[in-house]
This record gives sequence, structure tokens and C-alpha cells, in this order.
Amino acid sequence: MDQSLINKIRENIDIVEFVGEKIELSKKGKNYIGLCPFHNDNHPSLSVSKEKQIFKCFVCGESGNVFQFLMKFENISFMEAVRILGERIGIQVASNTKTLENKNQKLYDIYEIACSYYQNNLLSKEGEEARLYLKQRKLDMDVIKEFRIGLSLNKRDMLTNLLVKKGYDLELLNTLGLTSFDVDTYINRVIFPLTNTFGLVNGFSGRIYHGENTNKYLNTTETPIFKKGENLFNYSRAKDSVRHDKFVIVMEGFMAVIRAYTIGIKNCVALMGTSLTNEQITLIKRLSSNVYLCFDGDDAGINATIKNGKLLKDNGCNVKVIPLKDKLDPDDYILKYGSEKFYSLLSSAILFNDYKINSLKKGVDFNSPNDLTNYINLVLKEISMEDDSIKREIMLKNLAKETDVWYNTLEKKLNEILSKEKTNKISPLPKIEQKAKRKNKYEKTMQEIIFYMLEKKEIITLVSRSGVYFPNELYRTIIREITYFYEKYGYINIADFLSYMENNKEIKSCLNEIVSLELDSSVDSMVILEELKAIKDYNVALEIKRLENLIRNEVDPLEQARISDEIRKLKLGSEKK
Ligand code: UTP
Ligand code: MN
Repeated sequence: MDQSLINKIRENIDIVEFVGEKIELSKKGKNYIGLCPFHNDNHPSLSVSKEKQIFKCFVCGESGNVFQFLMKFENISFMEAVRILGERIGIQVASNTKTLENKNQKLYDIYEIACSYYQNNLLSKEGEEARLYLKQRKLDMDVIKEFRIGLSLNKRDMLTNLLVKKGYDLELLNTLGLTSFDVDTYINRVIFPLTNTFGLVNGFSGRIYHGENTNKYLNTTETPIFKKGENLFNYSRAKDSVRHDKFVIVMEGFMAVIRAYTIGIKNCVALMGTSLTNEQITLIKRLSSNVYLCFDGDDAGINATIKNGKLLKDNGCNVKVIPLKDKLDPDDYILKYGSEKFYSLLSSAILFNDYKINSLKKGVDFNSPNDLTNYINLVLKEISMEDDSIKREIMLKNLAKETDVWYNTLEKKLNEILSKEKTNKISPLPKIEQKAKRKNKYEKTMQEIIFYMLEKKEIITLVSRSGVYFPNELYRTIIREITYFYEKYGYINIADFLSYMENNKEIKSCLNEIVSLELDSSVDSMVILEELKAIKDYNVALEIKRLENLIRNEVDPLEQARISDEIRKLKLGSEKK
């Protein structure tokens, strides 16, 4: 791939603007900061430099230029990122590179074939009953197409044969869960494709549709491209809507998400019947930290709301709840009460804390002093977690009214809880990853020189003219590559040099360290010359040390004399300078 083209694409996309589209950034000093999308971040630790056109997280250590941000964000290859960003500014990058680069491309290809195959089945004559089923469920052709809903036929080997005929290995198909024990996994089910965060099909969920007495849904097993705890139904589709609506709705099942879509609510994702994992929380926060929970209205749904709401709150999200009555799920609710009712529920969503306090009331006998005390204590605990003192007072007043306990008594108890919590709370400092072992003085000097070579082209010339030998292979390689880059393209900057070094992990991580040095960007050549001299002296010292070792092991007195003369000359030489 042509490096100048890569540089040109990078140059035309402002990293601050691009990252700002994905996560919220605010200006701080020279840089922009935001919640890091690459780990579960509670305090903004991602810093984006407009000047250097790179990003860096001070907690998880992730860093790089705009391509590397996109790669990591969408879990795609470098070439893929170049292609996407190229498209953005109207530069076509040969698309055959895509197939070469994505190591899982073959697996996605297979899933794509299967998905289209199932889609066709649904439209075929044999799909009539399934079509009727979907019609009864009020899913029309538009939504069937949009979600690529399909059908697996009532035969054991249709998909297997198709894929084997196309040359795919049965063993691979078994691993991918499309076949099990060499026959089709999905038999006679309505097929709902699952997709990765990028929209590529990476799994299926198959639903029974004429009342068989078996698992309602059959889901894809874990495969190299599908991990249940890392997937969220509809994630890729929801991205743009969330960006527009500024909040994301999390639901329990995917039918609920599809139903919401039919009434124009497109910022929903679904968990697929599990509790939120850390990976999923990270994914959600990547979309927005304003999260609405709209789970089923039954007991399981209420419990899941509390559990997942807590998880999200603990991870710094603003959580609201859309509670559904009559034990309905969002799908049933919308079908029963209509879209308008649902819109109004949505706009009156309640704060998670209020929802939690409400749920504490369940089963409490307000005439039993024990029950009541217990309830009051639980509510006070919740109130103590509210940061806003006005909100606390309102909650306390409500509690007093509700329980007929004197306000002052409640307030006193609340203050006790608050002061106890204060002493328990020691806010942990964000841990900065200290992978790098301590560097000695000379290593630091070499890093500084490289830092300035990437800042100012004059320093590159200075270093190469000096002819100083860097006693560290990695730094030597970096310097050679910087010089080469500069000679070839006539300029240098860290962002483009990072693309250039994309395939070299070791160099990339070393550059990461160097960039983090945060040195003053203006430097006098004299300083660099002095640093170069220090390294030269260091080389001499190393050589003397080596020779002294040699003498110790040398038995021949003549040879000893020769070496010691060499040492003497070296010492003299370095004194002269
Ligand atoms: P639900 O039982 O609430 O399904 O399970 P649903 O979304 O209302 O679907 P319909 O309306 O009956 O068709 C919620 C989620 O739990 C998972 C599915 O991902 C479903 O979306 N689930 C449920 C399974 O994986 N297997 C099952 O057998 C049932
Ligand atoms: Mn349902």
C-alpha cells in the first residue's frame, strides 16, 4: 500500500473531529479529553492532541493516530481503517486489501452466505408458514428486510451441502456453529441474524414458529467471531441514532428492539437474555453514557433492571428506567397500547434511584414496625448515595410523609450514614500503567533525541550528521526509519510515522513511550548536541568496560598490554573532548 496515500488520508482528517464524533470530548489546555472507549473508564482519561494528531489513554495506555483509533474502536484491520477513512474524504483505496487483511474474513463470508440463504428461504414457497407467522407478529416486509430475518427449512442438510459445495470445510462449519455433527444446526426456525459492532453477521438466533415443544430460541455458540458477552443486538444499527438522540435504550430481548424500530425508536440494543458484562458496558458507553433501561415488566425484568442499573451506575452512566406495566415486554406493550403510549413512557422515564426506591416498597407491611424500620433504613441508604443535596432533601421529605416518621429523625440518621461513608471512602487514584521498566539515564537521553527528531526535521539532520552510534538496537532501528521516512517524504510527524510503523508492535509501543514524554516542543540544537555527546561518551565507557573484562580473562601478557593500551587511548580521547 502506498504510504503517501496513507499520509494524505490521515492529513485530511482531523483526529479531534473524528474522535469527537465517536465520544464526547472537551477541551483541556492544548488537548481534548474524554472517556476512553477502550477500557471501562469513569473519569476522562483519553487525551487527543490536535497538534500532534494522536490520542492516548493515561489509564489503559492505548494510543496512536486516527487510523489506529478506528482500528481499535471498530476492531478492524489497519487497511480497513485506511479504506474507511479514505472513503470519507473521497479517496478510493483498493478494496481487495480488505479480504487479505481481515483474518476472520472467511468466517464472515460464510456467515454472509448463510444469512442470504436463509433470507431467500423465507421468500420461497416453503417459507409461507413462516411468513404468516411473522405477519401475525406484525412484522412487515420492510422490517424483515432491514433485520435480514430468514428461515431455515425443515431439512437436515440444506445449508451444510450448500457450504460444502462452495468448498468450505465441514470441520470449520461445525466450529462456526452453522452445522453440528455435520448436519444443519438450525432446522425449521425463523432466523434472526446477529451482527458484530460493525454490522457484519457473526451469529444467528433461530426461533420456533409453529409451536414445537423445544427451546424457543436457539443461539449461536461461542466462535472466534462471536462471544455472547461481547455482543449487543442491533449495536451497529443503533450507533447513528444514539449519536442523534444522545441516549441509548437497553432491552432484554431482540424482538423488543425490532418492535421499537418499527415505531421509529432506533437507538435500542438488546442483551439477549444475559446480565450486562464489562465488555458490553464498555460498548454501551462508547455510544453514550446516558442509558435507559426498558426491560420486561415481570419480576425477572424488574430484578434485571435493578441489577443492571446498578452496574451501569457504578460505571459512571446516567441511568433512567422505562417501567412497563402488566408484566409486558416492550414488544407486547407497544402492540397492546400503541406507539404514542410508548413515546410518552419514554419521555417520562424515571431516574434509576427513584425506581430503585420504589421497588424497595414491594412486599413491605407499613403497619409492621419491623418492616417499616427495615424499609426506612434501606431508603436512607439509597438517599445517602444521591450527590445532590437538594434532591436528598426532597427524597427525605417524601420518606417522612410516606412513613409518618419525623423529618428530623430521618435527617439525623441520614447524616450518620453520610459521615460514616465519608470516612470509608478513599477515592482511588487512577492507576497509570507502568509496564515500562525503569530507564537508565542514557536510554532516557536517546528517547528524548528521538522525540525531537519527530518534532523538528533539523534534528534529524543533526543526528545523522553526528554519526553517533546508539547503543540500543530498537532505538537505532527507529532512528534509521525516521531518517528514511524523512528522506523519502521530505517531512516528519508522529501521526504519519505511526502509520508507517503500523506493522511493528515493538516500535509502536516504544514510540508510545516516547510520545508520552510530554517534553517542551521547542528545543535548542545545542541541547541535542550535548545529548549526542553524552551518548558518545557512554559508548566509550561501555567499550572500556568491555575491554577491562577482556583483560581480566586474558592470559597472554602481550595481549593484555595491547588491550590496556587501547583502554588508555580511549580514556585519553574522551578526556580531550
Ligand atoms: P424472551 O423470552 O423475553 O423472548 O427472552 P422475547 O424477546 O419476548 O421473544 P418472543 O416475543 O417470545 O419471540 C428474551 C431474550 O432471551 C433470549 C433471547 O435472546 C431473547 O431475545 N432467549 C430466550 C434465549 O436465548 N433462549 C430462549 O429459549 C429464550
Ligand atoms: Mn415477547
